[in-house]
Amino acid sequence: MRKINDCPVITIDGPVGSGKGSLSYALARQFKWNILDSGSLYRIIAFLAKRQNIHLQDEKALTVLTESLQVSFDVMQHHGCQIFIESECVTEFIREEIIGLHASKIALLPKVRDRLLMYQRNQAKLPGLVADGRDMGTLVFPQAPLKIFLTATVEERARRRYQQLRDKGSDVNIDQVLIDIMDRDKRDMERKYAPLVPDHDAVLLDNTKLSIMEVLKKITEISLKRNII
Ligand code: DC
Repeated sequence: MRKINDCPVITIDGPVGSGKGSLSYALARQFKWNILDSGSLYRIIAFLAKRQNIHLQDEKALTVLTESLQVSFDVMQHHGCQIFIESECVTEFIREEIIGLHASKIALLPKVRDRLLMYQRNQAKLPGLVADGRDMGTLVFPQAPLKIFLTATVEERARRRYQQLRDKGSDVNIDQVLIDIMDRDKRDMERKYAPLVPDHDAVLLDNTKLSIMEVLKKITEISLKRNII
C-alpha cells in the first residue's frame, strides 16, 4: 500500500538541528499539504509536566496527562504555526532548551508514545501530510511513499542551533550547545522503544552543505518521480 487512507505522506525524520522543521514547513507550503510537527507533542507534555510538577519518570501520571491533552495547531501563512493548550498560546515556551531536554526524556516512555500514535496517524488528511519527527517513517507511517532521513554533521547542527538561540537573544555557549546536542542524539538514537534510525527504505539526505532550497528541489524531484504529487 502506497498511501495512508488514500492520503500521501512524506516523513522527515532526523536528529536535533538537522533542519527538518524548516524543511517540513517549506514542503507543506509548497505542496499545500498538512503538517505534523510530532516533536511539539512531546514538548507540550514536557511543558505541562513541568508546570504540574510531574516527575519525568512518572510514566503513569504522564500517560494520564497525554490522554487528556487538548491541543490545537494554528498554521500560519508564512512562519510555522502557533500552538495552543486549550486557549493558551504556548508556542514560545515549548521551544525552550530545557523543554526539549525534558521532551527527549519523556519520549523514552512507551505508554506515552502509544497514546500519541492514533493522534499522529489521524493527521493524515488530504491533500497530503508532511510528518516531521524521529519515528515517522519507522513506526507512525510505515507505508509512507517517501521517507526522508535528514542529517548534518553534529558540528553544523550545533552551529545552527547556536545561531537560532542567539537570534532569540539567549546568552549561550557553542560548546555547551554541542554537548547538549550529543547528549540528546544519544538518548534519541539509543532508546529501546522507537529509536531514531533511518528506515530500510528511507532516502538519506545529508544537508551539511546544502541550502534548504536545494533540499526542497531534491525532494520535489523524488516526489514527482514516485507520482506522489
Ligand atoms: O523535534 P524536537 O526537537 O522538537 O523533539 C523533541 C524531543 O521529542 C526529541 O528529543 C525526541 C522526542 N521526539 C520523539 O521521540 N519522537 C518524535 N517523533 C518526535 C520527537
